[in-house]
Amino acid sequence: MIETDEIVLTEAAIREKVKELAGLIARDYAGKDLVLIGILKGALVFLADLIRNIPFPVTVDFVHASSYGMGTESMRAIRIKKEIETDIGGRHVLLVDCIIDTGETLDCLLKRYAERKPASLRSVVLLDKRSRRTVSVPLDYTGYVIPDKFVVGYGIDCGEQYRNLPYIATVKTGT
Ligand code: IMP
Ligand code: MG
Repeated sequence: MIETDEIVLTEAAIREKVKELAGLIARDYAGKDLVLIGILKGALVFLADLIRNIPFPVTVDFVHASSYGMGTESMRAIRIKKEIETDIGGRHVLLVDCIIDTGETLDCLLKRYAERKPASLRSVVLLDKRSRRTVSVPLDYTGYVIPDKFVVGYGIDCGEQYRNLPYIATVKTGT
């Protein structure tokens, strides 16, 4: 049985940070051809809110990469389940994820897309579980650094549940 435990970030705190990040991105990419690549499924809600705070046309695409199974344990393997369809060569690319943990997913995708010779390649994450990092990944825009606790909500799941929570909370796991 899994229950939500304590709220880590309220809706208001998330909204404020998303606006701040979008403001930085809008400043840095004004006048540029920006392609945002959301890492499914976790980036779903964050990306939707982020783009609505960017005041110029952008291209959106998705890659479905997964490193976690149905529970809270990492499987330590990145699988590409759905690839982007956009030609990113010569364009400004921003990889978007809701949470970075070991960093392996983002590291793998940054290397993968660098090979396609974009004009620039950066990343934005809302939540950074910095203490869990196993590979060093450059983060260009970071929302909140959070402690090493398993969280759900705002697109982030546990066993495909809780993505629809408008806030971010920890979960109680166990039987
Ligand atoms: P990484 O490759 O270890 O950085 O894992 C990144 C992915 O792991 C995220 O996109 C999430 O899907 C998942 N993940 C990491 N931490 C959590 C968590 O606390 N709750 C749910 N999923 C998580
Ligand atoms: Mg998951």
